[in-house]
Amino acid sequence: MMKGIVLAGGNGTRLFPLTSVTSKQLLAVYNKPMAYYPLSVLMLAGVRDILIISTPSTVPVMRNLLGDGSQLGLNLSYAVQQEPRGIAEAFLIGADHIGDDSSALILGDNVFHGPGFAELLREARESLDGCTLFGYPVPDPDRYGIGEVDRAGRLVSIEEKPPRPRSNTAITGLYLYDNEVVEIARGLAPSPRGELEITDVNLEYLRRGRAKLIGLSRGHTWFDCGTHDSLLAAGQYVRFVEKYRGERVACLEEIALRMGFIDAEACYRLGAGMRHSTYGRHLTEIAYALD
Ligand code: G1P
Repeated sequence: MMKGIVLAGGNGTRLFPLTSVTSKQLLAVYNKPMAYYPLSVLMLAGVRDILIISTPSTVPVMRNLLGDGSQLGLNLSYAVQQEPRGIAEAFLIGADHIGDDSSALILGDNVFHGPGFAELLREARESLDGCTLFGYPVPDPDRYGIGEVDRAGRLVSIEEKPPRPRSNTAITGLYLYDNEVVEIARGLAPSPRGELEITDVNLEYLRRGRAKLIGLSRGHTWFDCGTHDSLLAAGQYVRFVEKYRGERVACLEEIALRMGFIDAEACYRLGAGMRHSTYGRHLTEIAYALD
């Protein structure tokens, strides 16, 4: 079984003053809290046992928002990251949660959307052998972890925020790993900026010849919501898709219903509890229609 981790840590300083009294991952991306988006990705991958890691002040709020997950047919647990000591620390904090299983880590500010994304995730999960990363072309590659592939599509280099990027393929904040990730994270030394870098974990898999990059491009959309502009762009994108294409993005209750985690009655009840919002009304409308 694959375990999930949503890392919703950090101080969100690039979004100040928006994040001076609240967590980035609770900000609105159009009509729902940001954390819904990464959680929806794990659900679409069929991952139901999920650890949410956040700051000491945000864990209680996340718990209020999502509870134990049973309303969505999930098993959610929570853990604190005391200081922003890097993404790879998630595997030290989450070692017990992972146990002997493989894991999917997703960053709490990442929004993915695209046709067939659930199938793509399922295939990636089933064929996992080492580590699977997801690449996305960006115009500003010095802001991200960057992956370079050779003509045969094999991953040949990974660099964190390189001043002179070798490609424009960002490594997105969704990472699938086999169980070795815990041992690899335990062996990491902090980077010059004092963090346990996820890029160092990925580099170790690359050295072992067990890292793969799946390119997301045509038809797929990815945002990391890490800046004022990308936060707004993500919200505008979701609004467009929901209003003009009639599709919902990261509607957790609908996904739970589609995935068979909850039944129509449960979905209807959740919608009825928020029937004054278009989000809630949508759930009451689709609950029995989908079943
Ligand atoms: C982190 C990772 C980077 C990755 C990015 C994706 O950067 O270090 O490799 O490309 O997330 O969102 P951060 O956003 O923490 O600066």
